[in-house]
Amino acid sequence: MLHLLLAALAASGAFAAALPKSCPILFDGRVALTARAADFDKDTSKFDHQFVHGENQTWAEILKFPVVSPSLFDLPKFAKAVEVTLTDASIFVPGGGPPQVGFRRSELIPASNNGTDVTVQGTTTFHWSLRDDPARPLNYSHEYHPVWHETADFSTSEFTFQTGTPFNASFENPQVHNARTLRLAGRQSNSPETIFFSTPFTLGIWHNFALTLGWETNELTFYYSSGYAPLKRVVGPTFNDNSGGGQFHVGLLKLPTGPLGIDVLHEGFQASHIHEGLIYGGVFIEVSSSGCVTTGLL
Ligand SMILES: *[C@@H]1O[C@H](CO)[C@@H](O)[C@H](O)[C@H]1NC(C)=O
Ligand SMILES: *[C@@H]1O[C@H](CO)[C@@H](O)[C@H](O)[C@H]1NC(C)=O
Ligand SMILES: *[C@@H]1O[C@H](CO)[C@@H](O)[C@H](O)[C@H]1NC(C)=O
Ligand SMILES: *[C@@H]1O[C@H](CO)[C@@H](O)[C@H](O)[C@H]1NC(C)=O
Repeated sequence: MLHLLLAALAASGAFAAALPKSCPILFDGRVALTARAADFDKDTSKFDHQFVHGENQTWAEILKFPVVSPSLFDLPKFAKAVEVTLTDASIFVPGGGPPQVGFRRSELIPASNNGTDVTVQGTTTFHWSLRDDPARPLNYSHEYHPVWHETADFSTSEFTFQTGTPFNASFENPQVHNARTLRLAGRQSNSPETIFFSTPFTLGIWHNFALTLGWETNELTFYYSSGYAPLKRVVGPTFNDNSGGGQFHVGLLKLPTGPLGIDVLHEGFQASHIHEGLIYGGVFIEVSSSGCVTTGLL
């Protein structure tokens, strides 16, 4: 089926000279057509095969390969979309800590991204595309983080990428008026948190993002497009505190609902019998120290 979609796209001209402008790639998370979900549980996986998911879950249970057209930057690689799902079992138990019953979590992290590696040096650009799954809708009464970059000491995040209703509405500046938006926020320890960009989370299409971070310059630049349009710069370069290295998370973190002031990791409300998911594509990290950013297919 996916092959038929690819063939249809090729025939429609979407593939015509489908070559991206190339910048040196540090991590290529685009998923081969032949990949199976169980491959993500092996230590040969491009993503961390153990973290982050529910204590009693495997990637084989969590990941799906829905039949959708490939995202912008999957096209030239003949790569396919991968869906990250959440269920009641998506409760992460950190080493030595209590179960994080306040959250539901399923996140892919590049296996080579150990917190101090080349992806957090110089200036690097993080690419991702995402779209909704009509069969596994999110619950927009909750706050979700579909992508973020956590510092190596786990104390905060250099950026978070959010959707849904903010757990603490006054923590977001500017205020969020539409829960079904995709939003880029800066360093999480800022209070309030700076929302640099927001766009409606239109259903049924790909949304493509690229975020350039200067790890020493503390500059942030953000790019966005939908469908197969080339990325356009929508933020920056502007200041953001990018210190702390760490790891790139691509997947769902769902916060609880509940009163302000609770410990969101371990308290709050989560509905039962959930079957939620988000579809990802075109995940890669490139070197942008010379200003190079892949924005579209030639
Ligand atoms: C994992 O399974 C064990 C054994 O059934 C159970 O005690 C534990 O609570 C489960 N962990 C989570 C996070 O559901
Ligand atoms: C992370 O990996 C790099 C090589 O990519 C290595 O030099 C460094 O020591 C590693 N850091 C940690 C904390 O393991
Ligand atoms: C909610 O966000 C505001 C603005 O950042 C902050 O002052 C307040 O402490 C937060 N409330 C809680 C309970 O975290
Ligand atoms: C959405 O979340 C709220 C708060 O957790 C819950 O009360 C509601 O039942 C959920 N809706 C659906 C359709 O699951």
